[in-house]
Amino acid sequence: MKKINSYIDSVFQDEDDLLESVLLSIKENGMRSMSVSPASGKLLTMLVSLSGSQNVLEIGALGGYSGIFLARGFGSEGKLTSLELEESYANLAHKNLAEAGFGHQVSYMTGPALDSLEQLERTNKRFDFFFIDADKENYENYLDACLKLAENGAIIVADNVLANGSVADETVEPKHYTEVMKKFNETVANHPQLESILLPVGDGMTVSRVKIQK
Ligand SMILES: C[S@@+](CC[C@H](N)C(=O)[O-])C[C@H]1O[C@@H](n2cnc3c(N)ncnc32)[C@H](O)[C@@H]1O
Repeated sequence: MKKINSYIDSVFQDEDDLLESVLLSIKENGMRSMSVSPASGKLLTMLVSLSGSQNVLEIGALGGYSGIFLARGFGSEGKLTSLELEESYANLAHKNLAEAGFGHQVSYMTGPALDSLEQLERTNKRFDFFFIDADKENYENYLDACLKLAENGAIIVADNVLANGSVADETVEPKHYTEVMKKFNETVANHPQLESILLPVGDGMTVSRVKIQK
C-alpha cells in the first residue's frame, strides 16, 4: 500500500513549494506530521471543485495543509470554517492559509470540535462540504453533527478510514484505531441518508453524498 501511494503521489501531485513550506512549518513547530497525503489533498481540491462547494467545514486543521487543498477547490469565492482543538495549531494554519492567498476566506474555531459543532448548529449554519480528520474516536459523533449542518446533496469526506490498512488485513500492526474505523465504515456504507464509497488513496477516504430530500 505504501508503494502504491508513493507512486500515486509522485505521478499525480506536482511539486509545490508552498505546500512543502507548510509541512516544514509543522515540523519546525514541533507538531506531529499527520497531514493528509499529497494525493489525498489533490482529491479534496477536485471534490470541492467538481461539486461546486462554496461553504466548507473542516474538522482537524493541524498546520493548514488540507485547508489549502480545500480552499484551492473553491477559489476566490468560497469560505472555509476549520475546527481545531489547539489554538497554536489554528494560528499556524491561519498563517499558512494567508500565505496561500486564502487568509480572508478562512475562520478558525478552537477547542473541542464537538462544542464548536454544537455552536454552529445553534446559529443555524449550513455547509455543502465537510472534511473530517480529527480524533478518530469521535468520527461517528462528527458524522452525526455534520448531517445536522448539511445542505441537501452535501459531500462528507473522512480521512484515515483504512487505519493503515488494518481494517482489511489482520497482520498489519499497530492496530491503533482499527475497530473504530471498521465500525465507522459500516455506518457510512449503510447510512439511510448517505450514498458512499471508500477510496484507497493515502490512508483511505470515505466519500459520502447526503441524499437529496424532496
Ligand atoms: C490528522 S490532524 C489534521 C490534519 C489536517 N487535516 C491536514 O491534513 O492538514 C488532526 C488534528 O485534529 C486535532 N484534534 C484532535 N482532537 C480534536 C478535537 N477533539 N477537536 C478538534 N480538533 C481536534 C489535532 O489537534 C490535530 O491538529
